[in-house]
Amino acid sequence: MRVLITGGAGFIGSHLAEFHLDKGDEVHCVDDLSTGTLENVAPFRECEGFRFDRAEIRTWEALPEAIAAAERIYHMAAVVGMFRVLAEPEAVLATNVAGTERVLRCASEAGNAPRVLIASSSEVYGPVGTHRLDETDGLLVHCDTAKTQWNYALSKLAGEALGITYSGSFGLPVTIARLFNTIGKRQSGRYGMVVPRFVQQAAQGEPITVFGDGLQTRSFCNVEDAVRALHLLCESDEAEGEIVNVGNDHSITILDLANLVRELAGSGSPVVFVPDSEAYYRGFMGIRHRKPALDKLRRLVDFEHEQSLEDTIMDLLAAARPAAQGAEATG
Ligand SMILES: NC(=O)c1ccc[n+]([C@@H]2O[C@H](COP(=O)([O-])OP(=O)(O)OC[C@H]3O[C@@H](n4cnc5c(N)ncnc54)[C@H](O)[C@@H]3O)[C@@H](O)[C@H]2O)c1
Repeated sequence: MRVLITGGAGFIGSHLAEFHLDKGDEVHCVDDLSTGTLENVAPFRECEGFRFDRAEIRTWEALPEAIAAAERIYHMAAVVGMFRVLAEPEAVLATNVAGTERVLRCASEAGNAPRVLIASSSEVYGPVGTHRLDETDGLLVHCDTAKTQWNYALSKLAGEALGITYSGSFGLPVTIARLFNTIGKRQSGRYGMVVPRFVQQAAQGEPITVFGDGLQTRSFCNVEDAVRALHLLCESDEAEGEIVNVGNDHSITILDLANLVRELAGSGSPVVFVPDSEAYYRGFMGIRHRKPALDKLRRLVDFEHEQSLEDTIMDLLAAARPAAQGAEATG
């Protein structure tokens, strides 16, 4: 099979590439390297069947050709991470909405009806979330705190609407995956992702910084589990035209997560609290709970998680320690 991955040098994109190369598929990654890195694709860059283009999806002239050659497209390219979303609110809308529209338009014009998976986000559920978030839940944006904080959620919602429209109106086989917090190797902590930040802080013996009161809960899914779920959704005819949560339904408070990372690292790092107003800005609306209902995913495909949060953190700590030691040696 020929697979095209936009954002293929990113965290999830590079794992998708590795998964398909392992299956013997041809993989074409396109990425502008705005947050992705060549280091992410280095482990398989020389593999037969792998191709990489550094390009921006909204303007890349060869995109129609790349799409026409693909049987499956994972559209992962997006401006991601709360720090980047707050710093570049217009880029979030431009890339995430116009980029998705261009990918879908090219796919519908390609004539070969490639299977398209659009990466959406649990952020579309907005600030509510006292229960398991279900695909049929109403979606809410708090306009009284009309900050660009919500641009990411709005851009992902627009991407969903585009996907559903191209599926319904043009018969393009599209599936929307609402990804919840995904974690694993190659994820950067630079743009506000909590687990890589905690792991790095614990490995370097620095204070582990919990934003807010730490009682907010999140559910973390190992990236290899998430990639398998995305692949299975693309294999399922029933998933065409559907919006599906993809994540893990085991949730944990951020404070417990900080203590777990500290314990697994055997680290003496203190856990310190940083108010949201300091971590982000005054008036930032933190999201209290995020837990996916996975009934639809399990109904559509035969999927079970294989990796626990503890195992994933141990893997991340093992990868972080040599880097931390290297930094100490050269510092
Ligand atoms: N990681 C998560 O927990 C999570 C949760 C929900 C949704 N998602 C979604 O999954 C997708 C992948 O996220 P990720 O965590 O791997 O983030 P990432 O930042 O590692 O990956 C995104 C990639 O897209 C590339 N990119 C950005 N703008 C581009 C452009 N205009 N043209 C070409 N490439 C561009 C970046 O360089 C990066 O490599 C995103 O769409 C994101 O919204 C991720």
